[in-house]
Amino acid sequence: MREVRNIVILTGAGASAESGIDTFRAAGGLWEQHRVEDVATPEAFARDPELVLRFYDMRRAAIQEKQPNAAHFALARLDREWDGELLIVTQNVDDLHERAGARRVLHMHGEHLNAWCTYCDVRSRWRGPLIERPACPECGARALRPDVVWFGEMPYRMNEIYAALRQADLFVSIGTSGAVYPAAGFVRDARELGARTLELNLERSQGSAWFDESRIGPAGELVPAWVEEVLGG
Ligand code: OAD
Repeated sequence: MREVRNIVILTGAGASAESGIDTFRAAGGLWEQHRVEDVATPEAFARDPELVLRFYDMRRAAIQEKQPNAAHFALARLDREWDGELLIVTQNVDDLHERAGARRVLHMHGEHLNAWCTYCDVRSRWRGPLIERPACPECGARALRPDVVWFGEMPYRMNEIYAALRQADLFVSIGTSGAVYPAAGFVRDARELGARTLELNLERSQGSAWFDESRIGPAGELVPAWVEEVLGG
């Protein structure tokens, strides 16, 4: 087995579940409470912007009440102490990785705490609501939308992600169902490019067969134990 120098981690909603943020596809999860087509597509925003903005305003307010959990803190520790390459690609739009102290984080599905001006294309840090159509701090246009990737839109920074996957010796997937592409395909890409692949999840993900190893359990326990192993071993 080749020596591990470069690690790429993919996190999903399961990494934030123990912080009290709903996952998407669990029974009672977010996509059972709300139809994707109503709140998470560009068509929905064009049709009923108030509904979409209200939904994201609620989510933006909710995440600011939550705290990072043991999985976030363990990944932040890895980021601090691992002197090889590391990229934490997250599908999560909360800021709990950063609040735990992680720096090498890439938000491929955007961030709740950013507003994107569709007029001047500038993203501004944003904590309050958007429902009243506030002016863009850059250009003044009332054209701010949540900076969250909707279904039918391209995830962010894919070139950087694939460049990291090409260099990876180890790919680790944490708390994601493997239901949404392109993230769900990273394990195959990493594997075909020669990386070892590990999943840490509460249950086997849809792409479980592509992982060399699956550890089943809560991220709050599995991730600190794995980080200890990597840094200690
Ligand atoms: P899902 O809700 O699809 O999957 C969450 C995964 O986390 C499931 O496999 C759960 O078993 C697992 N899980 C739950 N609690 C856990 C815990 N405490 N520890 C470890 N694992 C746990 O969420 P994602 O895979 O993140 O996209 O969903 C991917 C994308 O679909 C999201 O980024 C979002 C959504 O639609 C957009 O909004 C663009």
